[in-house]
Amino acid sequence: MKEKVEALKQEIKESLKSVASVKELNDLKVKYLGKKGPINELTSMMKELSIEEKKEFGKILNELKNETNTLFEQTRKTLEEQELNKKLETEKIDITLPSTKLHIGGIHPLTKVIEEIEDLFISMGYDVVEGPEIEEDLYNFEKLNLPKGHPARDAQDSFYITEEMLLRTQTSPVQARTMDANLEKTPIRVICPGKVYRRDDDDATHSHQFTQIEGLVVGENINLSHLKGTLEEIAKKLFGSDREVRFRPSFFPFTEPSLEVDVSCFKCGGVGCSICKGTGWIEILGSGMVHPNVLRGCGYDPEKYTGFAFGIGPERVAMLKYGINDIRHFYTNDLRFLENFNRVEGSEEK
Ligand code: DAH
Repeated sequence: MKEKVEALKQEIKESLKSVASVKELNDLKVKYLGKKGPINELTSMMKELSIEEKKEFGKILNELKNETNTLFEQTRKTLEEQELNKKLETEKIDITLPSTKLHIGGIHPLTKVIEEIEDLFISMGYDVVEGPEIEEDLYNFEKLNLPKGHPARDAQDSFYITEEMLLRTQTSPVQARTMDANLEKTPIRVICPGKVYRRDDDDATHSHQFTQIEGLVVGENINLSHLKGTLEEIAKKLFGSDREVRFRPSFFPFTEPSLEVDVSCFKCGGVGCSICKGTGWIEILGSGMVHPNVLRGCGYDPEKYTGFAFGIGPERVAMLKYGINDIRHFYTNDLRFLENFNRVEGSEEK
């Protein structure tokens, strides 16, 4: 019997040496320590022994069991450690490897232009204010010297919601709102960016929704030279200091006199090309001295106060600045177009 136990012990030790995984170890444990295993077999043979022999052999068997269990436990620990080390080795992260390129979104070209224009005006002491896109007829037209039935209303085909409410066709209502809301009737210097809506058929140069930036300055002794100086400065900042700027008489119901501002064509330098349609000049915005009716209607005494106003189309500015030939590009979310403007500061230009 003793020899058998000794031989079994050796056998177990030998088998444990070649175990390569925890799974194999478990299988081996079942083989030796399981119900049908050799140790159990020896235990069941005990009943045939005398009491004396039982005592002696029982002790030997117990020792065998304990020793085997300890051996298995030790092997398990070693194996688990090995497996963990292997895992750590194979899953090691090489932090010196170059990272996968992150896809970073960019600022929309229109937002860029709007922010650039905002910055220019903020640097000149203007506030940026916003107004509602669902607007009252009162502010969109009436307070801007466009009473019901005025023929100039037809130039701005509108989306009416009720008889008195519409999607604003211009950002000019925000100038009337700003004057109205200023109860002390103190001087004003604001720009008002935002979306506007017109019942136009969409094509390369028309969109039923686009953006505008309205500007308004009201104060004592504000005159045409302030308007000219301000807009000349903006035009040169936006399109280049070597651009020439010219003012042309025009008509808007809410300004008198009204002027349109052109810059000399940056493509041909004024000789005439397809961009400036052969004229050498490109129209960039509408402006004028605030009509006395508008000032009066918003509570400002036109004898005391004067002002100038202007309206810029960011789409037009962006199209001219970046050479974009279709206004629909701004609204169709084609990444191939938008990615041209993904220029993160400090990174390589795409
Ligand atoms: N609201 C005008 C438009 O949509 C643009 C404009 C022109 C605004 C002249 C002004 C202005 O404030 O003085 O066509």
